[in-house]
Amino acid sequence: MINNSPTNSITLIQPDDFHLHVREGDALKSVVPDTARQFARAIIMPNLADPITTVEQAQNYREEILASVTDIDEDSKNGTDFEPLMTLYLTDKTTAETIVAAKASGIIHALKLYPAGATTNSDKGVTNLENIYPALEAMQETGIPLLVHGEVTDPEIDIFDRERVFIETILEPLIKRFPTLKVVLEHITTSDAVEFVTNAPDTIAATITAHHLLMNRNTIFAGGIRPHHYCLPILKRETHRQALVKAATSGNPKFFLGTDSAPHTQGAKESACGCAGMYTAYHAMELYAEAFDNADALDKLEGFSSIFGAKFYGLPQNTNSITLNRESWQVPANLPLGKEQIIPLRAGEQCHWTLVSND
Ligand code: DOR
Ligand code: ZN
Repeated sequence: MINNSPTNSITLIQPDDFHLHVREGDALKSVVPDTARQFARAIIMPNLADPITTVEQAQNYREEILASVTDIDEDSKNGTDFEPLMTLYLTDKTTAETIVAAKASGIIHALKLYPAGATTNSDKGVTNLENIYPALEAMQETGIPLLVHGEVTDPEIDIFDRERVFIETILEPLIKRFPTLKVVLEHITTSDAVEFVTNAPDTIAATITAHHLLMNRNTIFAGGIRPHHYCLPILKRETHRQALVKAATSGNPKFFLGTDSAPHTQGAKESACGCAGMYTAYHAMELYAEAFDNADALDKLEGFSSIFGAKFYGLPQNTNSITLNRESWQVPANLPLGKEQIIPLRAGEQCHWTLVSND
């Protein structure tokens, strides 16, 4: 018998966010509880104004994050056992010794490659991959993953082509040179990336954001210029969005959840030269549920959100669960970000799924 009734409630193993920006100081205190309410763990991006390049910096940053979750939701303790999974930022000077120390620390789970100039706080990133060959060699040996912002930085290359050109000119040769290096191509945005990752060995995986599953590039210009829809890699055309949805809902364990939630103040976004990034940590699982529901693939959400990423990183599966109901609610017009405010994605508009419990 065919069951046509829609699924109105789903319970999942508690998910992890494998790509998150939490900044520092007062802003960090505002945003970390949003993630901790939904996710058990998150891979913390190291692109602070003074990037996280050493084990000691990562230890201090981890303490700062943990301190920001101790006093949320006193009654239920929801989110208080949140585990930040730290990363280091690769520079031209990162040595093999740093990689060995990172692995030995037990708190560092990956290293992030920002091609210099690619995005927010990437100016201290890597200018030429050959400069970090010894570090990459050590990563390949220790099995610690390389997380890649996959865009070329050449301003001559069309912004909508920068991911594809990165794959062809940088990533493919890199993987040939380091054939057993574990690599996550972060926040993929194109059918080219989907195809590349699908056909690559099992050591290559990708994260996909909620915003790239839900929106195409028309939303950057809907009725005028929309700075809150600007992120990097930039939203692409509809055919690419469809390819991402197909990959995320395929059940292929190479594709897993990474929000790339990236808080910037309202002023920094609504400016003549606005920053790249969308704030989705507040309602991330609700947004992913909607994207999977739209594709009639809610049964594939748990693997994508709660199983595949942990497996790739060699982490145990979470034991708690979360429940989402099909219930609409209005996203707040703004949220506090330290002493300033942030405009979340979909501000003032409806979300169609609601996180109802986390136990
Ligand atoms: O949109 C983005 N925002 N893309 C990135 O790669 C970085 C991030 C940020 O840190 O603001
Ligand atoms: Zn990011």
